[in-house]
Amino acid sequence: MIKLSPSLLAADPLHLGDALHLAMDAGCDELHFDVMDAHFVPNLTFGPHILAGMKKQADFCYDVHLMLTDPLTMLDSYAKAGASILTVHAEANAAEEALKRIRELGIKAGVSIRPGTPAQALRPLLPLADRVLLMTVEPGFGGQQLMRGVLPKARELRCMGFEGEIEADGGINPANMRELADAGVEVLVMGTAFFKADDPYEVARLVHALSPQTGILWPNPKGGHSR
Ligand code: DX5
Ligand code: ZN
Repeated sequence: MIKLSPSLLAADPLHLGDALHLAMDAGCDELHFDVMDAHFVPNLTFGPHILAGMKKQADFCYDVHLMLTDPLTMLDSYAKAGASILTVHAEANAAEEALKRIRELGIKAGVSIRPGTPAQALRPLLPLADRVLLMTVEPGFGGQQLMRGVLPKARELRCMGFEGEIEADGGINPANMRELADAGVEVLVMGTAFFKADDPYEVARLVHALSPQTGILWPNPKGGHSR
């Protein structure tokens, strides 16, 4: 099943608790929690205390996307606050060390790349990651257009032998979500398309009705092909 991780960035900032409950009631699989430092990206968002408040309300899957120049300094705080998945950017400082620390903390480790960063840049980090987050917009703001040129990176990751989850983030909506599933993306982040939808329940239903890409023949490093 394709998973849906709605991005809190598009929710009403004065009603974040309602947004959490809407995501859970609509059957979403996780909540995407965007953290920005006004340095790695030109915007600023939620600190660990907001996450801790949510975790106190509900034991949900919190998908924390750290858009930070120095993620290492904040990992323990977000882990303590209740993160289920901590994703750092490959372009950030000490990304390798950060991924190791996330695993030490007993949390799922994710690594993300900006649209302009080639998938090959992830190669040395893949053994340390449970999930790859492909940015399909320039990180920093919601409500942008999907950059389709990023989608072949999902197949490239499989060709590099990555067996973890592949997530995409930015500009995803019901009109283009099939393209992402067909490209091999398994977790869809949706901000605007979920929280600003007339019927977010229907959006979640549509995502879960997508069939994952099972038809791609991944090259098998030992020869032949495997699915
Ligand atoms: C952008 C964030 C995204 C954003 C997606 O830097 O990482 O998660 O909230 O928003 P939409 O779905 O509106 O493009
Ligand atoms: Zn994000």
